[in-house]
Amino acid sequence: MAKTKSAYFCQSCGYESAKWLGKCPSCGQWNTFVEEVIEKASGQAPTWKTASSPIKRVATPAAIQDIQFSETNRLITSDQELNRVLGGGIVGGSLVLIGGEPGIGKSTLMLQLALNLPELKVLYVSGEESEQQIKMRADRLAGSGKETFILTETSTQHIFKQIELLEPGIVIVDSIQTLYSAHIESTPGSVSQVRECTAELLRFAKESGTPVFLIGHITKDGAIAGPKILEHMVDTVLQFEGDRHHVYRILRAVKNRFGSASELGIYEMQGNGLREVSNPSEILLSLREEPLSGITISAMLEGLRPMLIETQALVSASAYGTPQRSATGFDTRRMNMLLAVLEKRCGFRLSAKDVFLNIAGGLRVEDPAIDLGIIVAIISSHEDIPVPVKICFAGEVGLSGEIRAVNRIEQRIAEAQKLGFEKIYISKYNKKGLDTSRFAIEIKTVAKVEDVFSSLF
Ligand code: TYD
Ligand code: MG
Repeated sequence: MAKTKSAYFCQSCGYESAKWLGKCPSCGQWNTFVEEVIEKASGQAPTWKTASSPIKRVATPAAIQDIQFSETNRLITSDQELNRVLGGGIVGGSLVLIGGEPGIGKSTLMLQLALNLPELKVLYVSGEESEQQIKMRADRLAGSGKETFILTETSTQHIFKQIELLEPGIVIVDSIQTLYSAHIESTPGSVSQVRECTAELLRFAKESGTPVFLIGHITKDGAIAGPKILEHMVDTVLQFEGDRHHVYRILRAVKNRFGSASELGIYEMQGNGLREVSNPSEILLSLREEPLSGITISAMLEGLRPMLIETQALVSASAYGTPQRSATGFDTRRMNMLLAVLEKRCGFRLSAKDVFLNIAGGLRVEDPAIDLGIIVAIISSHEDIPVPVKICFAGEVGLSGEIRAVNRIEQRIAEAQKLGFEKIYISKYNKKGLDTSRFAIEIKTVAKVEDVFSSLF
């Protein structure tokens, strides 16, 4: 009988230690070590295939100029948003992790993908729901699903056996925390199990060239449950996020070995599944005819995609000694910096005011080009003077109140024009090399925040 062996694992980063430690030497967290039983089955290395497997490939060194690769190696799905986030389709042999809060729509997104790949056998492995539950969900979603196979199984060894029989073109695992490998004794979802199961799936993906999607749960503070090591092992990490009370969902690449990590996909959750939102500006702008104070529109870029987005600000006299400052969808520290610029450079008395900021649509914005729109929204609310509806903004604000240039200005202007805006405020420094005669929209260049206010209010 094999001897039971156990080790201690840091639940935060996956660091392994022979004895219990109070502080993790790897990530510095306290009280994160938990004992897990790891009992390797006698002598047998964990593997995804048995000796009878048809796929045998021994790796040999190859000269880099002889290696064939073309973009056609990617599998283009019917889901344009997913293609975009993955960097132009699914790469063969890639391991993709999709994280997100419970109920956000991860299973729906993956099942929808499976149902809409008619030329490819898809194996959807679920450890979370029964076949009947998945069938019920599939009936609500569009797609033929002719080649979609459902397997409710949690043992990786059994899963690999079925994979050998079925030979699917894509494998989807819902979720990695429910899987267990017989080579390790600890419970499913523990650090050592998650790590082992991912390693086995990784080996399978790389050796067979089959893309594998893993669904991962997320902890309260937004990290993918299980060790950070999981994120290092996979090729791509996608985050599925959004407000559960909003219908919009955002698929964001956090890490991508095969493309840009700043791409974004937007979906709308409907009664019959997720609908792609190909023109995000339509949903990010509320339909209003009357100008209201505190609202501005900014021309943003998310990845390579331009979109116009609405910012709302509310500035009011503070009822308490310490004013409240809160921002949804925008970094609060950056908002405080912009408020300091307004106070110091333009003389607005904002230190005794509550300031609330909200980015429409539940989006989180990191593009600094929204700065200009934000300061105008704040002052518009402060002075209670509305900004005309057909005006938008794109510029970064520096510490001395200067408006700095932003990247891809032509794309932003073109998008604003396409959506019927009549005027756009941009930095003076963006004007160099910009062919303004190409655009029908009026382009107003500004150098300092004061210039914007004197022109608008
Ligand atoms: P689900 O994919 O089960 O979430 P996850 O796997 O991330 O936990 O999503 C479930 C939610 O989506 C649930 O609240 C119901 C909703 N939903 C729809 O609104 N329309 C649909 O067609 C489907 C399938 C689900
Ligand atoms: Mg699910």
